[in-house]
Amino acid sequence: MLNGNLKLAIQKKGRLTDKSLLLLRNCGLDIEDYNERLIITSRNFELDILFLRDDDIPEYVQDGVADIGIVGEDVLYERKSEVKIIRNLGYGRCKLALAIPESKEIKNLEEFNGQRIATSYPNILKLFLEKNKINADVVEISGSVEIAPSLGVADYICDLVSTGNTLKLNKLKKSFEVFSSEAVLIACNKISADKEKMEILNNLLVRIDSALKAKTSKYLMMNAPKSSLDEIKNILPSLKSPTILPLADDTMVAVHAVIPADKFWTIHNKLKDAGASGILLLPIDNMIV
Ligand code: PRP
Ligand code: ZN
Repeated sequence: MLNGNLKLAIQKKGRLTDKSLLLLRNCGLDIEDYNERLIITSRNFELDILFLRDDDIPEYVQDGVADIGIVGEDVLYERKSEVKIIRNLGYGRCKLALAIPESKEIKNLEEFNGQRIATSYPNILKLFLEKNKINADVVEISGSVEIAPSLGVADYICDLVSTGNTLKLNKLKKSFEVFSSEAVLIACNKISADKEKMEILNNLLVRIDSALKAKTSKYLMMNAPKSSLDEIKNILPSLKSPTILPLADDTMVAVHAVIPADKFWTIHNKLKDAGASGILLLPIDNMIV
């Protein structure tokens, strides 16, 4: 497709697919439903979305087949591709971890010495074992690693754990953590030479930053006696000073502020004690600061 659009690669089917599409929609992009298609073009932005196996994304971005991609740090470090990380996206958090059969007990890392560990992350695992001076046999498997112990192919596994459901289903449990991962936005090193594509990318980044910031912030509204305004201002964790609006009752004011979403439950009682009433907390769609 040589239409000049920016090309973004995302995971075809897996942990990151829905959340990546949600992020793009939160950026105001009109994207039709994916329905197993390989490429979708946004209806209101110069962006083509390529759906690929996540393991292949770093290489496609390195070679410039896709200009940018969304991928887990796990895949990125395993593949050792030459791309640059341009944003951490804050979702898709998971651990690459050693896992053992539920019936076994392992207390020390040394107990992995001489054991066979199946994984589709041989590079990260070997580095980890080397660093910890463990001499184990790494069995490389490209998919469905979790069934390796029951097939007798390996004693233990090293795989991604997100909810832990896959391990549970296979009667395995998490042992030592090897690597922490979240979704990142990566770009082809060559993209900076392409003026048109850089312009689209910068435009997209403004929207992504706004959507990410909005996700961690909330809009707080309340009524308060004028006399406790200073106290309330001190309680509010907002970065900017709050908006104060007059009310029909001139001893009262309305206070509006943008606050970090996770702070609300630590301050709501203090606000009430200071005389605030009618406290409302609203989501924010986008935030340009
Ligand atoms: C990973 C991993 C497990 C699953 C773990 O797959 O291989 O199958 O996620 O998640 P859970 O703890 O929530 O059950 P991924 O989405 O990377 O797909 P892939 O292995 O097909 O690349
Ligand atoms: Zn994967």
